[in-house]
Amino acid sequence: MNLYSVKMRASRAGEHVSGAEKIVEASAAAATAARLVERALNHEKGTPDFVNVKLSAPGEIIRLKALAVTNNVVASAAEGRELAIELLERDGIARAREIMELLPQTHSMRGAMLIDADTLERLDGDGERGVRATCMDDAESSVKGTASGKNHYAEAMVLATKVQNAPGIIGEICVSDDPAYVTGYVASPHLGYQRISAIKEKGDSNGGRIFIYRGRREDVPAAVEFLERQSVIVEDVPVLDSPLPERRFSGIAAELTAIERAGLMRECRVLDKASRSLRRGGVLILSANDYLSLADDPRVIEAGVAALRRDGAGSGGSRLTTGTYPVHRNLEAHLARFNGCEEAIVFATGYMANVGTIQALVGKGDAILSDALNHASIIDGCRLSGAEVVVYRHGDLSDLARKLSLCREYRRRLVVSDAVFSMDGDILDLPRWLEICRRYDAFSMIDEAHSTGVLGTCGRGLAEHFACGHPDVTLGTLSKALGSEGAFVCGSRDLIRYLRNKARSFIFSTAPSPAAMAAADAALSVLESDPSRVDKLRRNAAFFVEELRRRGVVVETATPIVPVPVGDEHRALAASQALWGRGILVPAIRYPTVARGAARLRCAVCAGHDVEELAFAAQAIAEVLQTV
Ligand SMILES: Cc1ncc(COP(=O)(O)O)c(C=O)c1O
Repeated sequence: MNLYSVKMRASRAGEHVSGAEKIVEASAAAATAARLVERALNHEKGTPDFVNVKLSAPGEIIRLKALAVTNNVVASAAEGRELAIELLERDGIARAREIMELLPQTHSMRGAMLIDADTLERLDGDGERGVRATCMDDAESSVKGTASGKNHYAEAMVLATKVQNAPGIIGEICVSDDPAYVTGYVASPHLGYQRISAIKEKGDSNGGRIFIYRGRREDVPAAVEFLERQSVIVEDVPVLDSPLPERRFSGIAAELTAIERAGLMRECRVLDKASRSLRRGGVLILSANDYLSLADDPRVIEAGVAALRRDGAGSGGSRLTTGTYPVHRNLEAHLARFNGCEEAIVFATGYMANVGTIQALVGKGDAILSDALNHASIIDGCRLSGAEVVVYRHGDLSDLARKLSLCREYRRRLVVSDAVFSMDGDILDLPRWLEICRRYDAFSMIDEAHSTGVLGTCGRGLAEHFACGHPDVTLGTLSKALGSEGAFVCGSRDLIRYLRNKARSFIFSTAPSPAAMAAADAALSVLESDPSRVDKLRRNAAFFVEELRRRGVVVETATPIVPVPVGDEHRALAASQALWGRGILVPAIRYPTVARGAARLRCAVCAGHDVEELAFAAQAIAEVLQTV
């Protein structure tokens, strides 16, 4: 192959404007020279008064494989700089932050500062000139150019690849001096080419380049020789995604970074069956909503398996088309009997039950009065309904009454509340609340997700607990104390018929699986035949609370939900991680589930825990809170 080095240098009043060097085939030399002249004449820094183009034979050439590219999209220049520092630090360049601060001392993009990674001593001798990495091939032939004709990315990739192949070089920081170009990069042999979408503010022409060196002083000249004189061709420069998807996803990437920084990132923890028991060498799960430990009950499992065999894995259609099986109807009849209501309707999840029911009951022209700490699925149901939403202070029934009195003009009023508040463990004062709803002729709706199977002597929920009447709408879940999945609404015959015809999450969704229905039905039978489980749950909860208090951990609750207040999100996360390290799974509940600064460890006691486990957990929590 007949190769030429095409060099272009442009200046104005003796000041460098633009420069580039490309190694190209002879056939492309003229076009490359013309393109480089074009670039010089149209440079953002101004028109040059001197442009020099030189063609020469390149000498011996080394072929290098392009660095791997990672495209980091950040929300701001500040975030980009932090990321650059973080990446280099992770790569063993401990003083990356100080090195970054040296950037303004570099004079131009042409001359890079060469610096010792550990002592930060300058090794390029002449502080004005710097080290000039040149003699590279023209990468623009392999990747598409930008509108201005200067493909920053391709050039930078080629340069970075050469630099990271120089002896002793362990990293590079590069920030462009082009005021319009905010993208920069850090590179190292391990990190590859880490492109950072913003590393300086737009309009800022302070750019620079730093090569980071680790090795013997006497070997520095060899590194400089390689950088300045060795001709290289970089192969396989990866094509960068077009800028469009980058921008499309940049908001998402930025939000993820913000979530991470605020200590609010959530991930799914995988727990297989075998790992779900401390006694079996796994972890102690102190956060499940399986309050009666029925998810593991052999009778419940058997019922599910039998339905799976009999009716198949999926129901194959929505309830109103082909998805209703005897198991669905049997469970609905059972739930109605258990709750002392005329009828019941089953939904696939509690979330869908809340959204569908609220949306069916109220709409534009109606008002919803909703407790400030209601579950997210209630909040979403309220929002989707289109009704006016009036939030009353948590548990403050005087506030409710006052606000209801101002809503007389609305067509319908719906008052909705959790029965047990899932993150605080406190209980709605149902008798007083019902009285207020009746006084203002408002529909009353409670969500018994955490009270079904938990409150009342037989686990029938809030009405049994207070020995009072039922609200108009009682919603409960099959996914918590009943150990399965799905949810239900109980009420009058008309209410349930109405929901069957109006609740969109019921109508337009596949019916819950027969196995889940049969398992829930069996769980209900176990609960009815042996209400002592409810008592065991209550005793366990009281024991755990006492164990915590004995160790100085202040907790407040009226149910098996035992929130341990921590406050700071990072601290709560650290506490949760420390407990995980001791074999205890308790999640850190953080914003947006609870208010910012009100993070907590949400412990949930189950009937299946034994007192040794609970004492062990209380001790661990008390110790961990001392250390985080
Ligand atoms: C009060 C409350 N309502 C509804 C739900 C949603 O139920 P599901 O998980 O079955 O969707 C939950 C919890 O998940 C809850 O805590």
